Amino acid sequence: MRGIAYDRFGDDSVLKLRDDLPEPPVGPDTVLVRVHATGVNPVDIGIREGRLAGAYPHHFPIIPGWDVSGVVEQAGPAVVDFAPGEEVFGYVRRDDVQWGTAADLVPAPQRCLAHKPGSLSFAEAGALPLAGLTAYQALAEVLDVGEGDRVLVHRAAGGVGFLAVQIAVALGAHVIGTASPKNHGFLRDAGAAEVLDYSAGPASEQLSESVDAVLDLIGGPALADAPDQVRDRARIVSVVDPAVRDLGGRYVFVRPDHHDLEELGRMADAGQLRVPIAKAFPLEQLAEAHRLVAGGHVRGKVVVTLR
Ligand SMILES: NC(=O)c1ccc[n+]([C@@H]2O[C@H](COP(=O)([O-])OP(=O)(O)OC[C@H]3O[C@@H](n4cnc5c(N)ncnc54)[C@H](OP(=O)(O)O)[C@@H]3O)[C@@H](O)[C@H]2O)c1
Repeated sequence: MRGIAYDRFGDDSVLKLRDDLPEPPVGPDTVLVRVHATGVNPVDIGIREGRLAGAYPHHFPIIPGWDVSGVVEQAGPAVVDFAPGEEVFGYVRRDDVQWGTAADLVPAPQRCLAHKPGSLSFAEAGALPLAGLTAYQALAEVLDVGEGDRVLVHRAAGGVGFLAVQIAVALGAHVIGTASPKNHGFLRDAGAAEVLDYSAGPASEQLSESVDAVLDLIGGPALADAPDQVRDRARIVSVVDPAVRDLGGRYVFVRPDHHDLEELGRMADAGQLRVPIAKAFPLEQLAEAHRLVAGGHVRGKVVVTLR
């Protein structure tokens, strides 16, 4: 099988294109997906560098990547929701790191997948799952964002942030996003009612009034400022810093979820969710895609396309 793999943790030079990888095993609950596209996320870089080795059991060679869109190649005997030939997308994170999505085939537990929304291309659908689920689970399930809530989304021009702005708008919120000025028009196009320049001082000093909920995607000083941004500390969520709990807020760790993926697909098909692709790379340029994401200033999503 063709794919990118690495035999040790390290910088992006460990990523090697190979055509001799074994075909993945397919268990009873597993859907084997022929990969069309895979989004690149900051966590892919943390895993490759070995910074998360204590959090995920790992087995070399590791094929990186968790986001996928593609076509079902084979379904295990206990799989009921998917059949060969169907188009799917998903967030293929298991507890163990080994069989990732930067290869021709990935074995996906069926709970990690949903049918691909017809309105999205393979590239868009492959870039949506991890970032979209993070934003949806934080806003809809944990922060319980609803009609009329004032919601502050930090780092709003990135992969999670840009989807979070649109999801909060779809939930009926008045959304305020932080970004550098070059991205303010981009956020307004996504439906942000207000935009703040993160280099112009703490958000609490720029807000005209307090907000009902804060989604922190930065940590550090931005998170420390959150209690001065929000009316009720219980409605602070961070996805980057578990120390948010010390402030009275909640930490969210994204999980694969079939029904949440379906909801993201429904929003996309309803015209409520766009997936802006900053840049698409061919598989052999995955290292370049990692470098771009590691730079920390991507607008929207970076994706790798395989076919
Ligand atoms: N806990 C979880 O389950 C979970 C899930 C997903 C992601 N995460 C984490 O969440 C974070 C965001 O992920 P992502 O994929 O959205 O990242 P990303 O796409 O790489 O973020 C890039 C964006 O960050 C903006 N940015 C950089 N510094 C900023 C600042 N100080 N204030 C406001 N915006 C800033 C950049 O805009 P400018 O060019 O304007 O600076 C750029 O648009 C990462 O740390 C990631 O690891 C955690």
